[in-house]
Amino acid sequence: MVTRHQVLVASNRGPVSHTLGEGGELTVKRGGGGLVSGLSAVKGDAVWVCAALGEGDREAVRRTGGELDPADTGGQQVRMLDIAPDVFADAYNGIANSVLWFVHHMLYQTPTEPVFDADFERQWRSYEAYNAAFADALAREAAEGAAVLVQDYHLTLVPAMLRERRPDLRIGHFSHTPWAPPDYFRMLPDDPDGGVAAEVLRGILGADRAAFLTQRWANAFTDCCVRLLGAEVAVADGGDEMIVTHEGRRTRIGVHGLGADADFLRERSRRPDVEDRIALLREQIGRGPDGEPRRAIVRVDRTELSKNIVRGLLAYRRLLADRPEWRGRVVHVAFAYPSRQDLAVYREYTDEVARVAAEINAEYGEGDWTPVELHLKDDFARSLAAYRLADVALVNPIRDGMNLVAKEIPVLSDGGCALVLSREAGAFAELAEDAITVNPYDIGATADALHRALTMDAGERAERTKRLAAAATALPPTKWFLDQLNALRG
Ligand code: F6P
Repeated sequence: MVTRHQVLVASNRGPVSHTLGEGGELTVKRGGGGLVSGLSAVKGDAVWVCAALGEGDREAVRRTGGELDPADTGGQQVRMLDIAPDVFADAYNGIANSVLWFVHHMLYQTPTEPVFDADFERQWRSYEAYNAAFADALAREAAEGAAVLVQDYHLTLVPAMLRERRPDLRIGHFSHTPWAPPDYFRMLPDDPDGGVAAEVLRGILGADRAAFLTQRWANAFTDCCVRLLGAEVAVADGGDEMIVTHEGRRTRIGVHGLGADADFLRERSRRPDVEDRIALLREQIGRGPDGEPRRAIVRVDRTELSKNIVRGLLAYRRLLADRPEWRGRVVHVAFAYPSRQDLAVYREYTDEVARVAAEINAEYGEGDWTPVELHLKDDFARSLAAYRLADVALVNPIRDGMNLVAKEIPVLSDGGCALVLSREAGAFAELAEDAITVNPYDIGATADALHRALTMDAGERAERTKRLAAAATALPPTKWFLDQLNALRG
């Protein structure tokens, strides 16, 4: 008999993933990133429904029936769904990551992309089937009147599908990405009688409440509802929420910024493995001709097109070209960890990042000075080490829902860190005042911003870091989660 739950969360990626060893043994690894951090508050009776992402996860589902052992999940109750591999691949790689992610981050090279043809039509049917599998599982597991929080662009159709199956539930949807403005969003097939654009909007409007990381993304969503569906939008709750009315249903629209998990980060970053890596990094960075430790410009990202890593490297090259005084005295420590490697465009981007970094090193490197220290292998302890010793943090995405790196670095900085921040990151809304903000497309301006950051007076840098850390920790993940839950129930 199924235990029914009062609180349910659904996301594509769950808190853990499994790797299958050659001898058939399963290794469990806890994931990182905004979503896992935000949902660390899914505890007690609450259950987290997610998809099996690879062969290791599928094997774990076969062995457990999908109910993961809480000993492997840090005590969280997790239901992992085994969706047919071809359906999953079409939904995740095809629609979620190659279409919806590209639309919301405005990543298409539009003279040739996107192309919506037969492949897309098949992938879209898979996306519907994958969303339906989540709706079925949630409908099965939810107690009468339960609250269900559906996460992100992978699951936009779930709210409406779940409402059809279980009208008694309170359903919320949260978008962790930016939302595209209507002129870009309507690139999706937008036949008013059932095009994909309308289906995505109607899917989310099936929720009682839909929420976003910043007001900017919430406004873009409501603009799409007005322009593409002819919905009506009104301000409610003293201006804190909006209400979208469409086909007689009302959906509340809210905003919940997500902050850094300060307690976790501080504790984790003091462990010996991080201290060891600080020593290693210091050695790699070395000392300049004046005998002083070289300055470190740090970036930490998934190798993700929207993170704008190549333009960051070009801006660093421009800094070295225009301001020779920095040659030999600064190192760009760039961590670009593998992501979505099933997609050719991500593999090509990784190659491009490595190529540009190698060019800079060939052009400027001298003696024991390597201008760019690029690391492509994921190492969380090393990221935390770099956070602690960064003199400058470079966070220059083309578009980003929030960007937690911009928030985490000031919290962990040992000696004060100047933040160069793109105006297109969601974090800009909370951190702009004490960051040096840039247009992410402008290489010259980004190079100037790096110079300003490197020359910032130590006292000012420390003061700004303190204020950035305070802003970055104002909305801890637990609060982010509980605020949403309370707002949905309220
Ligand atoms: O919405 C963004 C997000 O879901 C983040 O939580 C995470 O950083 C990223 O996308 C992970 O992408 P993927 O699950 O495809 O690796």
